[in-house]
Amino acid sequence: MARDVKRLSTGWLFHRGDVAAGENPSLDDDAWQEVTVPHDWSIGGRFRQFRDENFWRMQNIDHRMGYLPQGIGWYRLHVHVPASWAGKRVTIRFDGVYRESTVWIDGRKLGFRPYGYATFSHDLTPHVKPGKTHVLAVRVNNTGCSTRWYAGSGIYRKVELEATHPVHVAEWGTRWTTPVAGKDRAVVRVETTVANDSGKDAAGVEVQVAIVDRGQVIARAATPVVAPAGETTVVQDLAIDSPRLWSPATPSLYEIRTAIVAGGEVIDEDVTPLGIRWFRFDPGLGFFLNDEPLKFKGVCLHHDNGPLGAREFARAAERKLAILRGMGCNAIRTSHNPPSRELLDACDRTGFMVMDEAFDEWVVPKSPEGYTKWFYEPVGEGDPTCWYERDVVDFVRRDRNHPCVILWSCGNEVSEQNRSHGDLGVRVLKDLLAVFHREDPTRPVTQGCNQIVDANATGFADLLDVVGYNYHGDKVLKSLPGGGFRCIYDEEHEKYPMRVMLGSENCSAFNTRGVYEYPVPMLGHRHGKMRPNIQMASYDVTSEHPLMILDSRPYVSGYFTWTGFDYIGEPSPYNWPAVSSYFGVIDLCGFPKDSYFLHKRMWVPEKMVHLVPSAWNFRDGEAIEVWAYSNCETVELLLNGRSLGEKRMDEYDDTVHQSWFVTYEPGRLEGIGRDGGAVVATFSVETAGFPHRLDLAADRLESTAGIEDIIFLEITARDVRGLVQPLAENLVTLSVSGPARIAGVANGNPISHEPFDDAQVHLFMGKALAVLQPTGKPGTVTVAVNAPMLHPGTVTIALVP
Ligand code: GAL
Repeated sequence: MARDVKRLSTGWLFHRGDVAAGENPSLDDDAWQEVTVPHDWSIGGRFRQFRDENFWRMQNIDHRMGYLPQGIGWYRLHVHVPASWAGKRVTIRFDGVYRESTVWIDGRKLGFRPYGYATFSHDLTPHVKPGKTHVLAVRVNNTGCSTRWYAGSGIYRKVELEATHPVHVAEWGTRWTTPVAGKDRAVVRVETTVANDSGKDAAGVEVQVAIVDRGQVIARAATPVVAPAGETTVVQDLAIDSPRLWSPATPSLYEIRTAIVAGGEVIDEDVTPLGIRWFRFDPGLGFFLNDEPLKFKGVCLHHDNGPLGAREFARAAERKLAILRGMGCNAIRTSHNPPSRELLDACDRTGFMVMDEAFDEWVVPKSPEGYTKWFYEPVGEGDPTCWYERDVVDFVRRDRNHPCVILWSCGNEVSEQNRSHGDLGVRVLKDLLAVFHREDPTRPVTQGCNQIVDANATGFADLLDVVGYNYHGDKVLKSLPGGGFRCIYDEEHEKYPMRVMLGSENCSAFNTRGVYEYPVPMLGHRHGKMRPNIQMASYDVTSEHPLMILDSRPYVSGYFTWTGFDYIGEPSPYNWPAVSSYFGVIDLCGFPKDSYFLHKRMWVPEKMVHLVPSAWNFRDGEAIEVWAYSNCETVELLLNGRSLGEKRMDEYDDTVHQSWFVTYEPGRLEGIGRDGGAVVATFSVETAGFPHRLDLAADRLESTAGIEDIIFLEITARDVRGLVQPLAENLVTLSVSGPARIAGVANGNPISHEPFDDAQVHLFMGKALAVLQPTGKPGTVTVAVNAPMLHPGTVTIALVP
């Protein structure tokens, strides 16, 4: 094995709070808590409205972080370096530590990293001895309000220890571009940076690169190099005839295998995914991928994973994307920070285009302890680079090989775009663009502008390769007589016909899954309506206008709904006791809300009907407004077999839905979708009886036994006939036998204060979610879910080596 990578997941010791000389190798850490990494100490905390002095100072700000505890934490790991690593270069890599982290080995400081979303590494070679155990210590300072959403605290992404030959491919040292990319032929340019850390010249070294297509080598290149101490870059061009192209519909991947060979022996090997695609943004016609027009039908995503907090797992990323794909989503904006590598890998594999975002703030603060503190601060310890440059360089080098990444975003709604800051915005933006363009000349750079009038006036917008419009582009100026609207995008496109426009953030609807309230407020009166139950009904604020507008403007290259999933923090439009967002088209558990089907209606060609309410348990005689979202020509509504009328779905001016006023009676509500008179899609919902049993459904019945191979368990209350009981709120308790544990529970209720790290939770609108985490040993796991008076649910999962 030329390169050895060990994931450091177990054996970590954690101490909440500060420790004097916590890095001291002889410190007694016996009483520290044993944890696994990824770890997030905030998610295990309890919600509290007023936490500490600090909160009082900054009230009205900190609610955005979700009312969970933060503070200072220490980690220690007694890490064994295998004897077989003698003569190797040893590196430790942290994918993400939130935030202001300092790392030591055996008491020697390796470095400090303020940005909580940066991936960083340290060379351990001079400090470690093969065959010996060393003490790694990490101090994390997450005090104060550093962000506008829940960020989590601690080592929330993976950590790896890597051993390579002293002559090796440098970190992120394989880089591919496609100077020629077409249906008939692609030329892949592979630039390999060879790092020679041996301190002396290495002669007789060869860089061998192979492109592998489903296990078969289809192109090769070999270049001899003299690698003096330090770094040497080798450029090789490899051709592929009739390449399989990468796109959301066909996310075909190849592999680049790079081998460093010396004396006939492979001394290092690096594998990089490759996707052949080309794209352009046309100011009039929008975005083209592989010469085909394609709109970004995207969502913004924060990085948290609901009940798992900020902890990242490949399975969590894959599940998110699979749920989003179900409504026709093809793009992700990683609002407002660098994502995990797991998310980008999953986007490569499953075909999501990514707007990869670096920052939420530059030099004008949004939060008292935010990134502003570090932006223009020198890295220090001999490095005059400022943190913004260091973070952008590391971010772009880490992510630029992902075919899914289509554009960079250097910021979100930064205050610097405003006229009141003079030319500050232009100056900072120029600094950032210089770094992005230098590190990756192949992708455009955008920024989410929410003050476009100012951004136009100062010249800020014109500097961007793609102008990102947050919201008001899709603001309706007036309804047009023949149907449709005039909006700010239209005005902007007329004023700037050569500008590439993108809806970088749109919609911001508020809904709670399964909440219906009548009468439905009049359109235009829904926004800002606060409800005494601190929920938002499915009708309250929907994304119909922006979706209609964005869909019909070819020059808007795409758009990103705020947000795909609910996230912890920013509980708009409320405050305490609300603790998580209402913005998602999917709730915190991953359960679709009704707006999921509105998006599906706009984004997916397959015929569908969805009714709101999508549950049929109300009071006898209650006046219910039923909406249909459908892409069929007509929908007929039936209640207990009686027709309540058929409506045209393709003739609308103001809203996408059609509505019927129905007097509630129990039974069956149906929507029949027809095209040309023929039934092409149906939807039905029936009144459920009392909760009778619990259903426990696992997303996988067999899994590998690693602690990262988490399994998602959906808990549903059903009546005696098996119908989902949409009002059930029973307290359910999980018990596990076998080598696994419950890593988190949630129910999607934005005002729930139940802990996420428990093995019990109340159902919300009939459902809840639990996440099962293997402990690392193979075996059979049986999970049971119980509630008083209900038949329990069970599931058995095989954990294989
Ligand atoms: C935007 C902002 C997002 C989120 C959203 C809520 O202005 O970019 O981060 O705060 O508003 O509507």
